[in-house]
Amino acid sequence: FGTKKLVIDPMKLVGADLSHLTGNIKNLLTGAHPKLTKVARYYFGTSGKQIRPLLVLLVAQATSMTAMRGLDTVDHSIMDRQVSIDLEGDEVSRRYNRLIRPLAAGEDVDQNVHARLYQPSVNKEGLAILPSQRRLAEITEMVHTASLLHDDVVDKSVTRRGQPAIQKEFGNKLAVLAGDFILSRSSLLLARLRDPNVIEVISSVISDLVEGEFKQLENTSDVPEPFGSLQAATGAGQDGPTEETFRYYLEKTYLKTGSLIAKSCQAAAMLGDCPREIIEAAYIFGRNVGIAFQLVDDLLDFTGSESVFGKPVGADLNLGIATAPVLYAWQEFPELALPVHRKFSEPGDVRRTFELVHLSQGINKTKMLAFEYAQRAADALSLFPSSASRDALFNLTETIINRQK
Ligand code: FPP
Ligand code: MG
Ligand code: MG
Repeated sequence: FGTKKLVIDPMKLVGADLSHLTGNIKNLLTGAHPKLTKVARYYFGTSGKQIRPLLVLLVAQATSMTAMRGLDTVDHSIMDRQVSIDLEGDEVSRRYNRLIRPLAAGEDVDQNVHARLYQPSVNKEGLAILPSQRRLAEITEMVHTASLLHDDVVDKSVTRRGQPAIQKEFGNKLAVLAGDFILSRSSLLLARLRDPNVIEVISSVISDLVEGEFKQLENTSDVPEPFGSLQAATGAGQDGPTEETFRYYLEKTYLKTGSLIAKSCQAAAMLGDCPREIIEAAYIFGRNVGIAFQLVDDLLDFTGSESVFGKPVGADLNLGIATAPVLYAWQEFPELALPVHRKFSEPGDVRRTFELVHLSQGINKTKMLAFEYAQRAADALSLFPSSASRDALFNLTETIINRQK
């Protein structure tokens, strides 16, 4: 990692698969009350980075050479099976069709669409992405987006991706219900992959997301005692951050961001029928890249430009949350103990903390920590066979830690 490698544009490798992702997801959100579909679609089709599906597709490609069975034995019809169930004519059928039709497509689509949905795409190196792995990429983006809908309610966000946050546009109730709806559709699609191990891995992500959010709430002033007073969350009563403060922060970071990325990379390798070491390497890669990604997110909350970042800077401090840049700054400036303990609730706390973070090594140290995690991610990638897709994953890891948005 960091050594010279050919720079490979991931879009050259998986761009064709990725280009259909948003359209497919929008289709997968139909068949409900039209207004629910409208609200649920709100964040799709904006300028999201689609980093999670990009990683899933590249991991699928990069690990396909290690598959334990030939492509010819893979069941491509996995998503087709649904339409053969005959429930015509009764109430069950009406509900079933409402639910399944738009998801399964199948009968009324033209040949090109059919090929795109049901056949593997094979690139010049002979590396394949299976239909089930493309579907996983969609599921992953849906789970992520569902969590953002809820997050924007919890955080009272103002903007996201350069437009009004969901609940500013539709209100809290519709935003929460639309999040539930996206999550439900993604669960349905997950079940339809008919792979119990993958279902188990991805389902566990959802409680990780909730637990990460819960751990973070202990940090904020919005939660009644005793929830808002966990010592480990704020280092309460300490003059500076302890090892436990950092441990708690990193565990939360894994849960809120690392888990989804780790487990979707893992599931991509599982769906590809890769050997155990490769599945493990995919998990470790995703875990570390995910933590690095969130560390950079926490950093950009101090250094980002609002117009590029697409959301306000300083948001974490305003929510009462001390992230890595603050914890490092606190090591240098013990006077941060008070604002940290009272969760930046007094007038001037946010501004003063912002200043001290910029006067300290907090930004640099957070960057170095992100770099360390990126390095671990790159080490895991070395276990994949050499390919353009693997090089693209190296590059993407580098892009993630240098990103501005
Ligand atoms: C963004 O973090 C939010 C998350 C990474 C996860 C939020 C999870 C929940 C609200 C639990 C509910 C989960 C589901 C699946 C419905 P952030 O607020 O730090 O980032 P931001 O600056 O982009 O808002
Ligand atoms: Mg949040
Ligand atoms: Mg938020």
